[in-house]
Amino acid sequence: MAETFDVKLAGKVYMPDPAYRERSWTGDWETAYKRYLDDPDGFWAGIAGELEWFAPWETVREWDNPYARWFTGAKLNITHNCLDRHAASERRNKVALIWRGEDDENERILTYRQLHREVMRFANALKGLGVGKGDTVCIYMPLVPEQVVAMLACARIGAVHSIVYGGFGASALNTRIRDAQAKIVITADVGFRRGKRVPLKTIVDEAVVNAPSVEKIVVLRRTKPEIELFSEMEVDFEEIMAAAAPYCEPEVMDAEDPLFILHTSGTTGTPKGIVHTSAGYMVGAYYTTKYVFDLKENDVYWCTADPGWITGHSYIVYGPLAAGATVLLTETTPDFPDPGIWWRIVEDFGVTVFYTAPTVIRMFMRFGEEWPNRSNLDTLRVLGSVGEPLNPEAFEWFYHNVGKDRCPIVDTWWQTETGMHMITTLVGEPMKPGFAGRPVPGVMADVVDREGNPVPPGIGGLLVIREPWPSMMRTVHNNDERYRKYWTTVDSLYTAGDLAVKDEDGYIMVLGRADDIIIVAGHNIGTAEVESALVSHEAVAEAAVIGIPDAVKGQAVKAFVILRQSYRPTEKLKGDLSYHVRMSLGPIAMPAAIEFVDALPKTRSGKIMRRVLKAKEMGIDPGDISTLED
Ligand code: WTA
Repeated sequence: MAETFDVKLAGKVYMPDPAYRERSWTGDWETAYKRYLDDPDGFWAGIAGELEWFAPWETVREWDNPYARWFTGAKLNITHNCLDRHAASERRNKVALIWRGEDDENERILTYRQLHREVMRFANALKGLGVGKGDTVCIYMPLVPEQVVAMLACARIGAVHSIVYGGFGASALNTRIRDAQAKIVITADVGFRRGKRVPLKTIVDEAVVNAPSVEKIVVLRRTKPEIELFSEMEVDFEEIMAAAAPYCEPEVMDAEDPLFILHTSGTTGTPKGIVHTSAGYMVGAYYTTKYVFDLKENDVYWCTADPGWITGHSYIVYGPLAAGATVLLTETTPDFPDPGIWWRIVEDFGVTVFYTAPTVIRMFMRFGEEWPNRSNLDTLRVLGSVGEPLNPEAFEWFYHNVGKDRCPIVDTWWQTETGMHMITTLVGEPMKPGFAGRPVPGVMADVVDREGNPVPPGIGGLLVIREPWPSMMRTVHNNDERYRKYWTTVDSLYTAGDLAVKDEDGYIMVLGRADDIIIVAGHNIGTAEVESALVSHEAVAEAAVIGIPDAVKGQAVKAFVILRQSYRPTEKLKGDLSYHVRMSLGPIAMPAAIEFVDALPKTRSGKIMRRVLKAKEMGIDPGDISTLED
């Protein structure tokens, strides 16, 4: 990781209408942050007290660096807070989910009462398949309400879900199923993407070979004629649902019982299975959904992520449902059938909170403001961004053309590992394009040098978190040593893997990753996983992968490949290699460029120096190369 360095901070500031702050749940940041600092445990206990518990906690927080336990002794079930709590109140007929398919006739609405019933039935169906507390269930589904039902049904019975995003390929799915030791895989025949069918079930068939833990595959059949289910292993989603009893008591979970595993790219080898537990995660996701988006009872809330990413876990499913929100989900992509589709959805459903990613905003910029201008976006109240730095140009475009100079933008910095928003600019606070903002009350974020000393404003350094927070990951599945590394790279502080800089007001600008993770269109791609997919091709002797700038996706994958002796470097082979990566890891990891080389820059110990490749690619000084072998 880099040492500290100078950063030039340009400064434009937008002041939102003061009414936002006056009416917000948090009020002003300074006061709220001070309230947290004065009594951290009391602060979090106050938030937790807004939710319902089967038994109260004895201690808010136990901290034995790097191991935290939150709300110890408490008993709960997150689905009680996401469903029963509302189904038993005047929210029972409130819309919980609005789903919109690619075809505009295709629309589904589930009230809290209905969602509650669906989840209980599917929970019983899972029990019928022998799934119990502590078992792992892999969910590999398109963006349909059943994906949410499957997640909540697992949580209902204490099974640990491990969701794999439907854009991943067979080998990526296989790795994740094996690491999580999933007993069941829940999938669908197809997903729809830009009018085409993505054959999810076929990918599952390939992925479960060499995955002996898998006992059953549950298939949601969306198309007619229905695909045939063959082996003893395969069961129909709707059939087992129809046969299941309607009522399912929530499993009583201990505060620290695991809720889910979610894999995120690692800098080496296999992806990391990030483990989140029940109580702390629930409190963190609930708190930030309500207080960062400043969610009100009549909001129509749309987060454009997929539930298969952490953004979807926390801000489509658990956070908004725990807060009793109306959540919009859609299988549509932003540019199909044309780039006006998402703005028509905002108008049609009266969306008030719209949470998306910089890569999407940059894509819209390219299509031009005529598209948002064709729809009435007056209902929008709050805009949000996540996944990578929201560059000032994209901020301005979003602010003017979508928010009409009226809606605050919350640029939220956080990670799969953190479970919840950590840094943002709360609604009503002055906004600085390019800066995510200040730590969310409840979080102690800082920018430090390698020794952990805070660096002065304008000096770049490592982004760290000083104190534990409720929704922090508890370990890396099967790799606790990797977990401890997060807290030991800089002594006793959580190192996020990002570089950042603060300004005089404590606003934090996130500059990008300090490690070998490439963020392509908001998706984290580990260089190691792509390199290993390339090397698994018979023509490849060695490969190194770097991120190169891309105007829309932020970054794109570029691969340097050394061929085995009997292979000739042809354009056709480049295509074959890209296709090979696409089939094993999925379209998101596919290299945008491949270059055949005779040698790769390595250290004397044989580690590839991607930094040198990158510097050469960008035509900049590679910095200290004294460890370079060749
Ligand atoms: C990056 C996604 C700048 C960052 C929630 C982080 C961001 C990684 C922002 C985590 C943001 C996420 N500004 N960078 N607002 N949000 N990142 O685990 O590099 O998929 O470490 O979680 O995305 O990605 P993950």
